[in-house]
Amino acid sequence: MENRSLVTIASHTKEKILYLLEMAKEFEKKPNRHLLDGKIVATLFFEPSTRTRLSFETAANRLGAKVIGFTDPKVTSSSKGETLKDTIMMVSNYADIIVMRHFLEGAARYASEVAPVPIVNAGDGANQHPSQTMLDLYSIYKTQGTLENLNIYLVGDLKYGRTVHSLLLAMRHFNPTFHFIAPDELRMPDEYKLFCKENGIHFEEHKEFTEEIIADADILYMTRVQRERFTDLMEYERVKDVYILRNKMLEHTRPNLRILHPLPRVNEIAYDVDDNPKAYYFQQAKNGLYAREAILCDVLGITLDEVKADTEKL
Ligand code: CP
Repeated sequence: MENRSLVTIASHTKEKILYLLEMAKEFEKKPNRHLLDGKIVATLFFEPSTRTRLSFETAANRLGAKVIGFTDPKVTSSSKGETLKDTIMMVSNYADIIVMRHFLEGAARYASEVAPVPIVNAGDGANQHPSQTMLDLYSIYKTQGTLENLNIYLVGDLKYGRTVHSLLLAMRHFNPTFHFIAPDELRMPDEYKLFCKENGIHFEEHKEFTEEIIADADILYMTRVQRERFTDLMEYERVKDVYILRNKMLEHTRPNLRILHPLPRVNEIAYDVDDNPKAYYFQQAKNGLYAREAILCDVLGITLDEVKADTEKL
């Protein structure tokens, strides 16, 4: 049987990404449908979440599915020693899709190999966050009118930030120029820089985060320093406030610039940026609903034509 899981965005071709973005656009026109009537979506969150879990659950509800799951593994039998495999096998008895966030890199891949139902990776450690990437791409497309030939600046925790890792993999189809802005401790891992070289993606690295450095940005993608990934909390304290975007820094940026952030933010975007028309992070999170409706449909084999036919029923 075909495995329709979404484990990594790297498995999606350019055509598949554009197809899912078109589907997301249909859901933005009409979020409430009956496409998943009778289905059960399980959300298994072994790590905290606000947006990813709630937007997946909202997507499921808006499509007519019912939702089961947990937000804290301590209240499940994994706290008694049940393995991930057994948990996944059990939940597969009850649900048609499993949306899972786990602290271990590779957990979603493993789950997809043992589960008889599709797995959607809602973030695995510092590795990947493909559904976030779909909403990021949708946000970029909506604000720039294209995904091609953009200057994308990734700022902050590029070592542990799974959203930037996923975004980088997806953008290989669209000829971006990346600027990686990070302190030494949080630089983009070598494997992703190697990926850029192998795929002909131009990138530059910076340690300074100044108005001059970001002058040519189309997308400024801010990230939080991921406290939960540090083994040495002293090191976290040293780097946690290394870059703070302030409104004043945006004065001479490009008119089309949009500021994205997967959220939650801590200190890396000052509150005075929120009212700047270039700030797009709250709308970005809203786009997550439409992108995740598309993902839920796709992993169940519901096609764009079926979604479009449903839109006609407006
Ligand atoms: N962007 C994101 O993954 O947010 P949550 O951790 O709140 O789900």
